[in-house]
Parts: sequence; structure tokens; C-alpha cells
Amino acid sequence: MIVVHTKKELDEQLAEWRQHGDHIAMVPTMGNLHAGHLSLVELAREHAERVVVSIFVNPTQFSEDEDFEEYPRTLERDTRLLKRPAADLIFAPDVETMYPFGLKDATTISVPRITENFCGASRPGHFDGVTSVVARLFALVQPDAAFFGQKDYQQQLVIRHMSQDLNLPVAIITGETIREEDGLAMSSRNQYLTDDERANAPVLYQVLSGVGEELQNGRRDYEELESESVAKLTDAGFAVDYFSIRRAQNLEIPDRDCDELVVLAAAHLGDARLIDNTVVTV
Ligand code: PAF
Repeated sequence: MIVVHTKKELDEQLAEWRQHGDHIAMVPTMGNLHAGHLSLVELAREHAERVVVSIFVNPTQFSEDEDFEEYPRTLERDTRLLKRPAADLIFAPDVETMYPFGLKDATTISVPRITENFCGASRPGHFDGVTSVVARLFALVQPDAAFFGQKDYQQQLVIRHMSQDLNLPVAIITGETIREEDGLAMSSRNQYLTDDERANAPVLYQVLSGVGEELQNGRRDYEELESESVAKLTDAGFAVDYFSIRRAQNLEIPDRDCDELVVLAAAHLGDARLIDNTVVTV
């Protein structure tokens, strides 16, 4: 496996692979890898001869009061983890490589509407940062396919929208959420949980799954289900950011006949902001 930091090194390696006709699958990450990322690498391996993992803690998707400075940078450990399942190349650029005109003069790509609510509302500017860096990564790597986790449900919809709207020649593929044994979705931010909070954290997925079952059983009083769930989570010690039942396809408010729903939640537990979701076909 090769680790490269510059555009020149990346271009040279990609050119060699393309000469051989190899397809390229890409898994964009911010590093601090866990089993969720590794399952995306495995999925990527099934789709292309070459797998590129990018590791870049993107400053433009953090607001000033967020954890950009403290976000764990663990390239050595990540490189070890990416031996199995094997990535062919790790692209770990610096800020200058990703934003050659500097952050103040950087072009921003902004997806409207679907970014307005949920994480977009709680984290203003976040999705502009995500789409801008993902578009840059796509331009640098020019992958045939790129892989994102379902845990960040809104993010993968936003990236899908951007790619379709801009006709980017990359297939966007969503990998399932990987969970700890007790149901907690794997996330780099789980490490901010204290032992007590960690023991409590699976309640988020339990409540989401409970709503999924209620929907399967025919309940359609979405607002009632949402407020019952917020109450359960608040009683369990969470500070709920949002808990919402929406159309899976576009996050719009569903009518009673909608048969593909997503239940989305974000909630703070101590210093950790946990997000999770469940998709329900009724
Ligand atoms: O999901 C993430 O880790 C990031 O938002 C991404 C897609 C790598 C962009 O920085």
C-alpha cells in the first residue's frame, strides 16, 4: 500500500493504474478509522481493481465552536488498519493541496433545500464544507465509484444530489451502518463518551428501532411518534437535537401513503453528538 500526500504523487500513481485499465473506487474519510470505514473499504474492493482511501480532516465542514482542532489525527494507526481490508493507496493531503487558493478564496459548492434541516440546521455551513471537499476529492482522484456510510444519511443524500446535478462521472454507493454489539452505530465521536454515557448510548438506536417497528405495524401518526421518542430520549439523559420521520428519498415530510421512510435522530450525550437513523420500507 502506498501513502501519498501531494497531487503530483497521486497523479503519477493514478496514471499508471489507468494505463492498465484499472477502475478506481474511493472511500473519503477524515481518518481515525473504525470498523464502519473498513466495511466501506471492503465494499469498494468488490467494485474496482484499485481502492483509494482519502484521509483529510476538512476544516471547512467544522464551525468555529466545533472539534476541528481536537479531531483525532491518527495516520499511523489508520495506515496499519488499511492493510486488511487492503487499500491500494492512502491519499493524505494537507490543507494547501486541497485548497490551493487558500480557505478565504476557495470555491464553495452548495446544495440547496436538502441541506436546510437536521444536521444542516444544527451545523450551519457544514454541508457546504462537505460538498466542497468531496467535489475537490472527486476532481483529484476521479474515481469511478465513491463509498459513504448510511449512518450519515443526510450527507450521502446531499453528495448524491451534488453528483447527479453536476453530472459527475462517479457512482455514489452507500454502505450499511456498522454497529457495536449493543447496537450503537460506530463513529469516531463515540470516543468522547464517558463509561456511563457509553453504557447509555445504545438507547438511541433502541428508540429508532422501536419507531421502525411501530411504522411497520401500521402507525402513521408521525408527529406523535416523534414527540414520544424525544421524551424517551430526554428521560434517558440525551439532549435531543432532532428526531424526525421523513421520506427516505429526499427528507421531505411524508404523507400516510409513503412506503419508504427514514427515521433520523441526532442527540447529545455529554460531549458527544450522536447521529443515527433507520430506513423503513412499509
Ligand atoms: O463523512 C466524513 O467523514 C466526511 O464528512 C467526508 C465525507 C470524508 C468529507 O470530509
